[in-house]
Amino acid sequence: MSNPAPVAVALDAPDLETAARWAALVTPHVSTVKIGLELYLRYGPDVVASIRGASGVRIFLDLKLHDIPATVGAAARTVARLRPDLLTVHASGGADALRAAAEGAPGTRIAAVTLLTSLNEEQLGRIGMTGSVQDTVLRLSALAVEAGAHGIVCSPREVSAVRAEVGPGIMLITPGVRPAGSAAYDQARVATPEEAIKAGADLLVIGRPITSAPDPGAAAATIAASLRRLTPARK
Ligand code: C5P
Repeated sequence: MSNPAPVAVALDAPDLETAARWAALVTPHVSTVKIGLELYLRYGPDVVASIRGASGVRIFLDLKLHDIPATVGAAARTVARLRPDLLTVHASGGADALRAAAEGAPGTRIAAVTLLTSLNEEQLGRIGMTGSVQDTVLRLSALAVEAGAHGIVCSPREVSAVRAEVGPGIMLITPGVRPAGSAAYDQARVATPEEAIKAGADLLVIGRPITSAPDPGAAAATIAASLRRLTPARK
């Protein structure tokens, strides 16, 4: 089997059986699966071991922690024993909270969420964040990296500017990825997998184009093959 593709399949399933089935189907083709709040809150920490199974697939725990530094640090310590590869923390919680997460879960990469892509400039203004989306994303990215975050979650549209801001060595993670010809669903700003990688992304978060396909394993394999053609020697 060739190297799995740098894709995190978002397991946004209503129940564990469905999520575990999707994980088993896609795991031969992708590096990572993403467990979000819905599954985690419904099934608790055991969901991580159930999904990982015997496959050893990397787990992206997308809990988007946002609290005072002591609480974020304690939460990160608690989930560290589940050995997730990635854990998300809101950058707007501040540098101390990001630092506490990194210290609390030393074996896990902390990915900072800059701005939720559901917020537009008008909504940002209403919560007191003035300035353009891009300036805010860049400011939060710089803060997160300085505080010890290992990765940044941003939209494909911002990835090249974020790369220029944070330099190499920081993992850039992009949702909003759609293979050519697939439905956008509710993602407003989309890029193809090839475009996102060319712009500098290291890990592509892809959900429904894979999990809603008639054969999720085949959909993951097709995306993996398109990325292998792009970067044959990719890690
Ligand atoms: O199905 P789809 O490919 O749109 O799934 C994308 C995944 O990425 C979902 O789990 C969604 O919650 C997540 N996400 C996102 N936009 C962000 C952050 C996370 O779509 N800014």
